[in-house]
Amino acid sequence: METQFAPSLLAADFSNLTAEIKLIEKADYLHLDVMDGVYVPNITFGPGLIKAIRDKTELPFDTHLMITRPERYIDDFAAAGTDVLTVHLEATDHIHRVIQQIKEKGLQAGCSLNPATPLSSLEYILPDLDQVLIMSVNPGFGGQSYIPQITDKIAKLKRIITQNDYECKIEVDGGIKNHNLKEIVQAGADIIVAGSAIFKADSPAEALAKMRSIAAD
Ligand code: DX5
Ligand code: ZN
Repeated sequence: METQFAPSLLAADFSNLTAEIKLIEKADYLHLDVMDGVYVPNITFGPGLIKAIRDKTELPFDTHLMITRPERYIDDFAAAGTDVLTVHLEATDHIHRVIQQIKEKGLQAGCSLNPATPLSSLEYILPDLDQVLIMSVNPGFGGQSYIPQITDKIAKLKRIITQNDYECKIEVDGGIKNHNLKEIVQAGADIIVAGSAIFKADSPAEALAKMRSIAAD
């Protein structure tokens, strides 16, 4: 399958979101980083903003919740119009229940793992997941450096998914640039999240096209 791209709005100009979103219309998803200042040391936006931009683009919304006890807000994010909803395994006591809650809303369900969280913690939920979001930086901020040992983690997860014939996609998030994109795709990433590499470029549309050509090469 061709590599898909999910530009992260976190790196966009927040004073001009409608215009920023137009620049990446050729992407596959719009990645939306929700942070609560508790689970991670930063605060971004919530379902109100997602709802406000829902009709500004046809792109599916890929919402990444970095919030404590996400089970409290699944209904709100579903109502805001997200298509994929990803929660952190580390942010809830009952990850299996939250995944079911997301699926009951008719959304695609994702589970995210922080860099230090082992893949073994996914063993009993992997059959239920539409995607796993592998964090390749510590969550909270854009513009950090890719943690090199995550490439091996992606490759291991790819083997598990292939061996078991699971449908689950692998999304990788954090520090992805032109120079490390190829190794991440070769390791098994299906969806690439990129914030600063796309929105901080002179032309986000060209930066996205360049990343696509590197991934496909
Ligand atoms: C970090 C967020 C990322 C972030 C990626 O917590 O989950 O999605 O926006 O930004 P870059 O690509 O700049 O590392
Ligand atoms: Zn993210």
